[in-house]
Amino acid sequence: MGSKAAVKNRPVICEVRSVRRETQDTNTLRIESPPYVSKMAQPGQFLMVWVPGIDEVPMSISNTTKDEIWITVKKVGEATAAIHKVAEGELLGLRGPYGTRFSAKGRNILVVAGGIGAAPLLFLTKKLTDVNKRITMIIGARSADKLVLQEGFEKLSKHRRSRLILTTDDGSAGTRGFASDVAAALLKKGEFDRVYTCGPEAMMHKVIITAESKRVQVEASLERYMRCGIGICGSCYIGRYLVCKDGPVFTGARLEEIVQYLKVK
Ligand SMILES: Cc1cc2nc3c(=O)[nH]c(=O)nc-3n(C[C@H](O)[C@H](O)[C@H](O)COP(=O)(O)OP(=O)(O)OC[C@H]3O[C@@H](n4cnc5c(N)ncnc54)[C@H](O)[C@@H]3O)c2cc1C
Ligand code: FES
Repeated sequence: MGSKAAVKNRPVICEVRSVRRETQDTNTLRIESPPYVSKMAQPGQFLMVWVPGIDEVPMSISNTTKDEIWITVKKVGEATAAIHKVAEGELLGLRGPYGTRFSAKGRNILVVAGGIGAAPLLFLTKKLTDVNKRITMIIGARSADKLVLQEGFEKLSKHRRSRLILTTDDGSAGTRGFASDVAAALLKKGEFDRVYTCGPEAMMHKVIITAESKRVQVEASLERYMRCGIGICGSCYIGRYLVCKDGPVFTGARLEEIVQYLKVK
């Protein structure tokens, strides 16, 4: 067996234990994983998921157990459509976990997820409730049927120090409007000391700017097109940083520097 880095850079072929439909275009796959992968994985990190004969794509880790890793996949193109075709008992290749993690710091925490951005934040929120943090979760989507991992967040919101706010653009569930607007209104009240966010760039942009204006530490998980996942190919630059190595979770001065590159429209 080679070094830890060599081991994690080699795809491991793993069996899919179950597939759960979350929304019309989003599935969660529970994948059998070598214990070193599930043990090492931290909220915010991602895996390179290899579909033989198709492609290899980055996917956030949405949960772990002792011997499983979960990914939540939205169908947008060829590779994600192929992952959606994978059935229980079939195989996928995994490399990783890679990238930076959420710090899990803060005492009164705001979590803001939009769309598939809920995936890494479910894993984080689970860790935060395990250590009894006070958490407000805002989960947003265009409409009720597009809310990702709603049930998982509802379970976590049963924790006595947690609350869940759903938002939909069309008002079909929860508060009508954008998750970022609800987050901004809460941030202006000044009760939070840490914000974690992942989702559409326009949403994160507003959350980051509002949190910074209130001097609240914010950590955001960003996405760029990736090929190697390990800092070699240069396809995932944002400003002067590589999302696969310096991110995907950015915070502090680096986040302040790159927020200008987020697409707001
Ligand atoms: C760190 C990281 C974590 C991610 N976590 C998840 C996750 O948990 N669940 C999930 O469903 N997806 C996640 N993604 C996005 C996922 O990797 C892409 O949707 C996937 O690579 C698309 O592959 P495809 O072959 O299906 O689509 P393609 O045919 O490659 O692309 C379809 C469309 O999506 C766009 N696209 C592809 N990749 C990206 C990207 N990285 N950013 C913005 N637009 C893109 C393309 O421009 C095109 O318009 C993550 C991406 C990164 C970088
Ligand atoms: S994906 Fe190759 S450098 Fe980031």
